[in-house]
Amino acid sequence: MIQLPGLIDPHVHMREPGGEHKEDWDSGTAAALAGGFTLVLAMPNTRPPVTDAASLEGALAAARAKARCDYGQYLGAGPDNAAAAAALAGRSAGLKMYLDQTYGPLRLDDMTLWMQHFERWPADLPIVAHAESRSMAAVLLMAQLFDRPVHIAHVSLREEILLIRKARERGLKVTCEVAPHHLMPPPNPPPNSQNLGEGQGGGRLEVRPRLNTPEDRQALWDNLDAIDCFATDHAPHTLAEKDGPNPPPGFPGLETALPLLLTAVHAGRLTLDDIVLRCHTNPRRIFHLPQQPDTWIEIDPDAEWSLRATEMHTRCGWTPYEGMPVRGRVQRVVLRGAEVFKDGRVLAEPGIGRNVRDC
Ligand code: NCD
Ligand code: ZN
Ligand code: ZN
Repeated sequence: MIQLPGLIDPHVHMREPGGEHKEDWDSGTAAALAGGFTLVLAMPNTRPPVTDAASLEGALAAARAKARCDYGQYLGAGPDNAAAAAALAGRSAGLKMYLDQTYGPLRLDDMTLWMQHFERWPADLPIVAHAESRSMAAVLLMAQLFDRPVHIAHVSLREEILLIRKARERGLKVTCEVAPHHLMPPPNPPPNSQNLGEGQGGGRLEVRPRLNTPEDRQALWDNLDAIDCFATDHAPHTLAEKDGPNPPPGFPGLETALPLLLTAVHAGRLTLDDIVLRCHTNPRRIFHLPQQPDTWIEIDPDAEWSLRATEMHTRCGWTPYEGMPVRGRVQRVVLRGAEVFKDGRVLAEPGIGRNVRDC
């Protein structure tokens, strides 16, 4: 048995309100604990999105009642909420800006709208950007012009990680995260999708940013030292949605991330210290998160098992890694002194989770 600090995931989609058939604060935080995460930061692309005082309070009320691990809730940058969002900044995990096409209604194309948010959002609170390729270059410039830090979500491309490395060498305040599926992609075609019609099955592999090429992946591995965080981008959608017309992008990730990362440790591609740095130490610093006292996870680093959706807690009911053999498993999770997960069972009651911004 090896003890690690409780993992922190700065990028999850809890789907509440408006998408509770995919996930809610109860099922999503159960999945977090089962995956070794004791603190998650939830994205604002819900229905309605979290963009003002009423929607933030609604999301936080659901979390307060149901969350089984600690949490924060992002505000979304919209076309006309820069002042309102800034006034709520201290209650939120940070500001999320969607600058490229993805799931949900929050997308800002006009760079003058980006500027409004960069002008008003407090300089010491996080801004996270979904910004791919050249949009990422543009948001790095914007952060430089406003002399403030920016965190780039789910970096997937060689050009992105190389630009981030260069920007950091020149003193820009940029941090970034990479999702496990952009380092260790799911099998293609996905398992159990053979009996679907022509052109289907592809919906299961839809994700934004898209699955990257082997060259992009290699560049991420080669530039591991430029990756601050591993973030799951846990983005649950049901199989009916993934296999239907217009499949929404996204994979569930909370219950597969640590086994995939521990498997990479076995393969000699990562160390346990690499994981702790990127799943605990760095996210805590970047997002100004409090210590969780008496909180840790216990893993069996040698356990050999296979990923199975039937054993998972996410409501969406599937994983793109179905059947994948992995090494390393979460055995036990302790949150603020209480045993909250043991041997496959979530023991935490809904509502024991705390808002990290209430501290
Ligand atoms: C996310 C979702 O479903 O909310 N989808 C995804 O493919 N990553 C949105 C996002 O993170 O861009
Ligand atoms: Zn995104
Ligand atoms: Zn996301």
